[in-house]
Amino acid sequence: QRHLISAADLTRDDAVLILDTAEEMSRVADRPIKKLPTLRGRTVVNLFFEDSTRTRISFEAAEKRLSADVINFSAKGSSVSKGESLKDTAQTLEAMGVDAVVIRHGASGAPYRLANSGWIDAAVINAGDGTHQHPTQALLDAFTLRRRLVGRDAGLGQDLSGKRITVVGDVLHSRVARSNVDLLHTLGAEVTLVAPPTLVPVGVESWPCAVSYDLDSTLPKCDAVMMLRVQRERMNAAFFPTEREYSRRYGLDGDRMARLPEHAIVMHPGPMVRGMEITAEVADSGRCTAVEQVANGVSIRMAVLYLLLGGNEPAVTHSRTEEK
Ligand code: CP
Repeated sequence: QRHLISAADLTRDDAVLILDTAEEMSRVADRPIKKLPTLRGRTVVNLFFEDSTRTRISFEAAEKRLSADVINFSAKGSSVSKGESLKDTAQTLEAMGVDAVVIRHGASGAPYRLANSGWIDAAVINAGDGTHQHPTQALLDAFTLRRRLVGRDAGLGQDLSGKRITVVGDVLHSRVARSNVDLLHTLGAEVTLVAPPTLVPVGVESWPCAVSYDLDSTLPKCDAVMMLRVQRERMNAAFFPTEREYSRRYGLDGDRMARLPEHAIVMHPGPMVRGMEITAEVADSGRCTAVEQVANGVSIRMAVLYLLLGGNEPAVTHSRTEEK
């Protein structure tokens, strides 16, 4: 594939290849010099029209670890505020000779438009578009799940067959939930969405997952629970759930965490709203993988950039010492 727009575009073999390549890439973090020459001479632009901490920084770290030249573009402070269109912005970047565009945009479908409009030749990677997709988030979540539930070495070449993942919260506005449902299903996992009825999207019956409104009965049956943030910025204020009511029914606190099987992990894509969907006690516990997910995001983004741009170069050249 030339672009990465949606987790739904990935086959099982595509996804396993990305996860296995990310395992290779993760070794670079253990080296004294955390860099590979793979993308030397290639230029990647990070085109962010929406705020981001984790995705923007980890793409930049991944690009720099692969020795790419990096251009960071934020809509704030650019000519977008003067009314410049996505097309003109993209063509301005194209004129500077970029090889890949990592784009985050508030409009669902913006990365697809960029990849298929003929405006640019560069590879397009979706870093989150509206409520639609966030494919590298789903990949880093699958990577974290495989490492924790199958094993770092035992997981190579494996998918997530039979693993039970519960995704909880504001599914309606969540590109993370949509991407994870698509990818986890492709990888053989069983996904259950748990949400208040008002935060369940219309048409969810056609998604490859189960839906429940009862968190407490779901927790004892899952291998991982993924908590979602309530995205107030995408809601009309009249529909804000109250923090107290929401956290009472759908928040994860210490008592609820104790209902999980002993081996089960707690995931969160970030940013977390402590006290709403997750308590500080759970967020800071050893079962919560939120920080580990961020670290894994760098390896996943290195793998995606390498597979889209790296050609036939070996992903990682191992030194003799490492091979022993
Ligand atoms: N998980 C995630 O996409 O976080 P950011 O919005 O900080 O990039």
